[in-house]
Parts: sequence; C-alpha cells; structure tokens
Amino acid sequence: MPTMILAIESSCDETAVAILRHTPENEVEILSSEISSQIDIHREFGGVVPELASRNHSLNLRPLIETALENAQLKIQDISAFAATSGPGLASSLLVGNTTAKSLSVATGTPFISVNHMEGHLLSPFIEQKKLSSNLALIVSGGHTLLIHMKDFGDYHLLGSTRDDAAGEAYDKVGKMLGLPYPGGPEIEKQARNGSPTAFSFPRSMIKNGLDFSFSGLKTAVLYQLEKLDPAEGRPPKEAIPDLCASFQAAVIDILVTKTLRAAQSCGEKLITLSGGVSCNQTLRKAMQEACMKNGLELLIAPPAMSTDNAAMIGFVALHSHLRGHNSSLHEDINPNLRLAQH
Ligand code: KG4
Ligand code: ZN
Repeated sequence: MPTMILAIESSCDETAVAILRHTPENEVEILSSEISSQIDIHREFGGVVPELASRNHSLNLRPLIETALENAQLKIQDISAFAATSGPGLASSLLVGNTTAKSLSVATGTPFISVNHMEGHLLSPFIEQKKLSSNLALIVSGGHTLLIHMKDFGDYHLLGSTRDDAAGEAYDKVGKMLGLPYPGGPEIEKQARNGSPTAFSFPRSMIKNGLDFSFSGLKTAVLYQLEKLDPAEGRPPKEAIPDLCASFQAAVIDILVTKTLRAAQSCGEKLITLSGGVSCNQTLRKAMQEACMKNGLELLIAPPAMSTDNAAMIGFVALHSHLRGHNSSLHEDINPNLRLAQH
C-alpha cells in the first residue's frame, strides 16, 4: 500500500485539507487539495479576526476532510499518517487543525506529523518537480519576508528577513490606506495595471546593502503622499490610485529582486525559488524571471494555487518527513512564533 498523507492547514484564515500519495516511482501525487477561504467573512473587518477564524476552521474542517477523501476515492483507514501546521500562525487557529489531525491519528492508530508553515511555502516550488534541489529561496507572505539558503531537506540557513513589516503586510496596509478591500495584495496588483510605476518616487529602504528588508518606511511614504494629495482628509483622489499602486509595487519589487540577486551571489546558488502569497503577483514573477535570465540564474516558482496558503504544501513537507522516519509526538504543542531557520 503506498504512503498516503492527509494534511491540514489552519494557521490563518484559510481552512485547507489535502491528500498526497507517494508513488512507487518515488514521486508525489496530489490526490485532492481542498480550500475553504474565509476572506469574505473577514473582509468587513478589514483584516483577520482570530476568534472568527478559529470558529470557522472548526465548522469547515469536517466537511473538507470528507470532500478530500471523496475526491481521492479513499477512506479514512487508507491514510498512513495525519499532518497539520503547528506554527507560525494564530494560536487559536493552529489548535483547531492540530487537534483534529492528532485525534485522527489516535483514532486510526497512525503517526502524526507536525509541519512548519514556512517550510510548506519553502518547498512549494518543488511540489511538481521530481526531486528537491539546493536553492536560494525568497519567501514572501503576509507575515514573513525571508531569504533562505536551502542546502537540503531540513538544512536551512537564514540569510535575511524583515526588520519590520513583511512584504504582504505592506501590501495589505497600503491597500487599507487606499480604501481597497482586504487583502490589499491582489487589489493593488489589479489597480497597478492601469498606473505608472514612475508616477511617484517611493523609497527603496536598505536596498544598497545587506540582506535584511524594511518596508515600514515605504508604507509611511505612501501615507505622506496621500496627505499631500488631499491635505484635508488624507484620502487618495480616485484617479491617483492606479499610479499610487503601481509606484508602491515597483518599489517593493525592486527591493525584493535586488536583495534576492545579492543573496544568490553571497551563497553561490544558481537556482532561485520564489514562494508565499505575494509570489502570485505577476509583475513580481516577471521581474524576477527577467533578472534571473540576465544573471544566468534558474527560477522556480510554485503555481499560483500552491503559492497562497494551501494544505498540499503542508502534506508535501509531511511526506518528506515521514519517508525519513521523522514523525512527531502527540505531546508536541503548537507554536505561534515557530521559526524556520537561524543565521
Ligand atoms: O502565503 P499567504 O497566503 O499567507 C501567509 O502565510 O501570510 O500570503 C498572504 C499574503 C497577503 O498579504 C496578500 O495580500 C498577499 O499574500 N498576496 C499578494 C497577492 N496575492 C496575495 N500580494 C501581492 N500581489 C498578489 N497578487
Ligand atoms: Zn502562508
């Protein structure tokens, strides 16, 4: 019987369940990947409300598990191990997925595997590849901006991270300032298509040196620009929104691409990977692709459905751990501040 992993992701506002199979050819097949997004529930509050998130995870999980099993044409007894995200994320949200996976492990007498959400993002570009390779990874999500030198599975070295806001967080905060719906990332990308990236000159903080990021100065620069455009209310005139979005996005992408190339040079890696929710951004993907081509580097990006939060990436990490005999203890706690790598 091939190894089958059922994985649960519930670290923030997406409830997700996936089932992955390890084929006899040593490949990974995604049999089902179900997501129930809570974005519409949180949108009216302009951000994620933790208590609403955890209550909805517990309502969504059982039907999602049933659908995942049905789509994979499996029964719960066919699963070899249950996995869940154990951090980083919202404590009350993590607990729902974690406790569900542990309960299923106990009920079926199978192993439990706890997964670091950021490792899920890190490995997501490899889900459709035949094997993992060493690479320089840029992970850009709502809570993290990380440059990691991945030498092998489990061998990760932190080269740079953000000193304040994460890239996705900056998108979301600027989106809010501009009166755009939550989450700001996809909305800013949409507006930016009709704007000029050079209309406003926004700062590229810390771009000249180092591998750490800082996005809070950029966010403040957008705020000052709004006050200049509308001294009474600080609200953006409608016609300026596309230019503000395009100029803000150009600054973010400039910083991300410049630092990624510097990091690749510092560790001598020729393969770059890009992951996390912000990597859905088409302008970022294109800019990174062009920069890599110019510098003789290879670029691997997860498909958009695997870039934002999903359970397939959690199952992918769990499968690699399980195949190496690394299962987790049922006593292992969640950790909202779980880290992926050290300097
Ligand atoms: O990885 P993810 O789904 O969740 C976290 O682990 O945080 O990332 C969510 C972040 C949000 O900040 C969202 O605004 C951003 O990814 N995002 C984007 C785009 N799609 C999602 N940012 C820029 N452009 C996009 N197209
Ligand atoms: Zn994420």
